[in-house]
Amino acid sequence: MVKICCIGAGYVGGPTMAVIALKCPKIEVVVVDISVSRITAWNSEQLPIYEPGLDDVVKECRGRNLFFSTDVEKHVAEADIVFVSVNTPTKTTGLGAGKAADLTYWESAARMIADVSKSDKIVVEKSTVPVKTAEAIEKILTHNSKGINYQILSNPEFLAEGTAIQDLFHPDRVLIGGRETPAGLKAVQALKDVYAQWVPDERILTTNLWSAELSKLAANAFLAQRISSVNAMSALCEATGADVTQVAYAVGKDSRIGQKFLNASVGFGGSCFQKDILNLVYICECNGLPEVAEYWKQVIKVNDYQKNRFVNRVVASMFNTVSNKKIAVLGFAFKKDTGDTRETPAIDVCKGLLGDKARLSIYDPQVTEDQIQRDLTMNKFDWDHPIHLQPTSPTTVKQVSVVWDAYEATKDAHAVCILTEWDEFKKLDYKRIFDNMQKPAFVFDGRNIVNADELRQIGFIVYSIGKPLDSWLKDMPAVA
Ligand SMILES: NC(=O)c1ccc[n+]([C@@H]2O[C@H](COP(=O)([O-])OP(=O)(O)OC[C@H]3O[C@@H](n4cnc5c(N)ncnc54)[C@H](O)[C@@H]3O)[C@@H](O)[C@H]2O)c1
Repeated sequence: MVKICCIGAGYVGGPTMAVIALKCPKIEVVVVDISVSRITAWNSEQLPIYEPGLDDVVKECRGRNLFFSTDVEKHVAEADIVFVSVNTPTKTTGLGAGKAADLTYWESAARMIADVSKSDKIVVEKSTVPVKTAEAIEKILTHNSKGINYQILSNPEFLAEGTAIQDLFHPDRVLIGGRETPAGLKAVQALKDVYAQWVPDERILTTNLWSAELSKLAANAFLAQRISSVNAMSALCEATGADVTQVAYAVGKDSRIGQKFLNASVGFGGSCFQKDILNLVYICECNGLPEVAEYWKQVIKVNDYQKNRFVNRVVASMFNTVSNKKIAVLGFAFKKDTGDTRETPAIDVCKGLLGDKARLSIYDPQVTEDQIQRDLTMNKFDWDHPIHLQPTSPTTVKQVSVVWDAYEATKDAHAVCILTEWDEFKKLDYKRIFDNMQKPAFVFDGRNIVNADELRQIGFIVYSIGKPLDSWLKDMPAVA
C-alpha cells in the first residue's frame, strides 16, 4: 500500500489529503502537524476549519485510510510520498522584510525529513513557495541524505476556500513540476497516478519545477489583478455616474476577458493574494526587474486604496465623524462560506473606523470573538505562523463587541457596514433593522449584495461600491 504523509494540517493540507483519501481508498494518508490543538480538532466532531462538504468527506475516510497525528517523525519516516503544506509567512525582519517568504517552517520540515528518513522519498511542495525553493530543499535533503534518494516535486494547490471540496473534486487543472531526469519523470508519474484516480488525464499538467512554482504565484497575481482592476474602475464609476456592475458585465461579455472574478468590493483578502504578490515582487527585484516588480505592486496598492476609500466614505457621510457612534459590522471572514479571517479587508476597515473612535458591533456567522480580537490586535503578517507560536497582545479592543445575531449588532447603530457577502445578509429584515437604528440610518455595502433601491425606500442612506451615488453622498467626497 502506498503511504502518503502530509506535514501541515491547515486549510490546504487537511481538505486536500481528505479528498485524496476519499478518492484513493488503497492509499494510506496521514496528516501530521506540530499543533496539538489542530490535530485534536481534526480527530473530533468539530473540525478546525469550516468548509462546505468537508465534514462528510472526513467522516467517510477518517479511521479507514485517513489519519491525523502529532507523531510527525514516525509518519514521515514511513511514507513513500511526503507533502509539505506548512506556513510560508511574509518575512517581518531582516533581508526582504515585508516582501520575501519566510521559509523557516519549510526548512525545518525539510531537515526533519532528512533526519528521520530510512527509505527513498518523493517530497512534494504543496505550500506556495518562491521560485527555486525546490533547489534549496533538494540541497538540504541531499547534503543530509545518508544514501537515501529524494525527488522533489512542485504540486501547488489551486483550491479556493469556501469551495475547496468541489475544487478538489473537479480541479481546472492539477499541476506537477519535476526534474526532467529519468528519476524525476518517474516521481512525476507516481504523483500523477494518485490524481489520475479521479482527475481526467488532460487536466493533469506536467512541467519543469520552476514553471510549476512560478505558475502558482502568477495565477494568484492574475486573479488579484482582476479584482484590483474592477475596484479601480469602481472609483471612477462613482465619480462619473456609471454603474460598476453594468461596466463589469459589459467588459466580461468579451470572451477574451470572461465574467468571473469581476465583482467590485471593499477589497480582496485571504492568506494568499497579498503574500504571493509580495513574494513575486521580491523575486522580480532580486532578478533585476524593477519595472515588473512595480507593476505587480500596484495590485496591492489599489487594494489598500479601496479599503481606505471605503472607510473614508463611511466617515465622510456621517458628518466627518464616527466618534462614539455605534457601527454594525456584518461579516468579518475574507469571503463567504469560510471562517478564515487571514488578511480579511474587515481588519483594515475596522481599524480605520476605530481610528476615528467608532464603537463597533461585529457579527459573522463563522468567526469567533476570540479570533476577531486577535486579528484586531495582532501585528501585520503575524497571523501566518502556527497558531501556538503567534504572538498575541494581552489586551483586547474595548470599543469592539462581537455578537451572534445581525439584529443585535445593528440595534441602536448609526450605520451598517457589510464586509462579507454571506447569503444570510441578503435575506435580513431591513425594515426591522431600520426601525431599531439611529437616524439617519446608513448602509455601506462593501460587497454589493443588498438591493439599494429597496433599502432607500425603507429610508436608509445607501452606499454601494461603484454605483451611482446617493444624493446624500454626492456632496461628501471621500478622497483623503
Ligand atoms: N489557504 C489557501 O487557500 C491556500 C491555497 C493554496 C495554497 N496555499 C498555501 O499552502 C500553504 C499552507 O497554507 P494553509 O492555508 O494550509 O496554512 P495553515 O496555517 O492553515 O496550515 C499550516 C499548518 O502547518 C503546520 N506546521 C508548520 N510548521 C510545521 C512543521 N515543521 N511540522 C508540522 N507542521 C507544521 C502549522 O501548525 C499549521 O497547522 C501556504 O504556503 C499557503 O500559501 C494556501
